[in-house]
Amino acid sequence: MTARDASVYRCQQCGYASPKPGTCPDCLRAGAGYLQLVEERAAPSRVARRAPVVQGPPRPLRDITVEQHDRVRTGIGELDRVLGGGVVRGSLVLVGGDPGVGKSTLLLQTARALAQVTPPVLYVSAEESAAQVKMRADRLGIAADGLLLWTETDLAAVQAQLDDVKPRALVVDSIQTVFLPELESAPGSVAQVRECGARLMTLAKGLGIATFLVGHVTKEGALAGPRVLEHLVDTVLYFEGESHHAYRVLRAVKNRFGSTNEIGVFQMGEAGLVEVTNPSGFFLAERPGDAPGSVIVSSLEGTRPLLLELQALVARASFGTPRRTVLGADYNRVCLLLAVLEKRVGMPLASQDVFVNVAGGGRVTEPAADLGLVLAAASSYLDRPVPGDVVVLGEVGLTGEVRAVAGLELRLKEAAALGFRRAVVPKNSVPAGGKSPLDVRGVATVNEAVDALLG
Ligand code: TYD
Ligand code: MG
Repeated sequence: MTARDASVYRCQQCGYASPKPGTCPDCLRAGAGYLQLVEERAAPSRVARRAPVVQGPPRPLRDITVEQHDRVRTGIGELDRVLGGGVVRGSLVLVGGDPGVGKSTLLLQTARALAQVTPPVLYVSAEESAAQVKMRADRLGIAADGLLLWTETDLAAVQAQLDDVKPRALVVDSIQTVFLPELESAPGSVAQVRECGARLMTLAKGLGIATFLVGHVTKEGALAGPRVLEHLVDTVLYFEGESHHAYRVLRAVKNRFGSTNEIGVFQMGEAGLVEVTNPSGFFLAERPGDAPGSVIVSSLEGTRPLLLELQALVARASFGTPRRTVLGADYNRVCLLLAVLEKRVGMPLASQDVFVNVAGGGRVTEPAADLGLVLAAASSYLDRPVPGDVVVLGEVGLTGEVRAVAGLELRLKEAAALGFRRAVVPKNSVPAGGKSPLDVRGVATVNEAVDALLG
């Protein structure tokens, strides 16, 4: 037996490889328990199979030109924004997400849009039958001419078709159900997912096809998730959403052709995904007027400001340890902020249950929402509403100080556009010269903010 065709034993969860059988040490350390390594025949030499893309000799950097027309706008504005201004020719985009979140729907709509600008587009469904895809297409009202559908799981067969069809864009739904026949492992195993990803990368780059892959995010188990592909592909998008809410967020977590902070917002409806161009209005639609415990923050996702309603309910704990329940924000962060409120403002929250929620199934991830969370809890505890025309911004430190936030101007502009008139912001961030679309009040401490809004 030569070194080349020796077996490797691989963890199906994280991809850890070992020459010997046993359990995965990485996953054990990470707390996932004892996961058996699965035997895989090593793939035949990669050198022979990976067709080199002809590049010519090295050239000076300044002689290399970037052709702008290599980027195509799909016409789905929210998707274009996340991709960094459109789809790049020859790029490989991975769209990950939980089963049922709407990945196939998104990509079928993308395929339709691309078929109108750069036909033909090939949609390879390795998961559903042609009839199932057709039913979805009918529901979405898709009847594009340049959109070809093929149900095939053998990637070698797909590759053979590419020469005949010459698609400008390709969708593979999903990477976990296609396979390369020369590998022995089952579809969905780490080896298959990796090799199929690598093969599609070569094809995308070599033939200049914009390629989209669907990858299911898997719970622990035998299937390899999109994580094993993240280093390989150009762009990784995650499609997120709660099953009980209609809204879906498309988030870039890696992008070789744009910023990774951008999000696109969609709403799942009867006829597929609809762009939400004004997400702030969407999240604030059902906001109660002047209710205690409700505060609006202007959070920033990439370059996009998003107004979110934070809600807190503080109620006397009936017995035992008081409860802290947090949805849509970081649990530890909320606990920290409640401790600040207790110690610096003197609110006895230790005997209170605290529930925190971001309305509409939204999510806050940045510290700029700290002051909003503090004020929501204080407002509920005091049973006094924060005025409805106020937005709140600021990071809160452990001494109760309110710290500066980035991108204040963008955030305030969005609030003004949605009819807010006043803002409470960190003292250090108050715009010089008093030029602002809102009536801005600077505060240096949590105490000052509580006095200003609830005093
Ligand atoms: P799907 O795109 O199949 O999800 P995924 O490919 O990520 O597994 O769609 C998932 C859900 O979306 C499904 O439960 C039905 C719902 N749906 C709508 O509500 N409206 C629609 O127009 C379509 C096509 C799907
Ligand atoms: Mg699907």
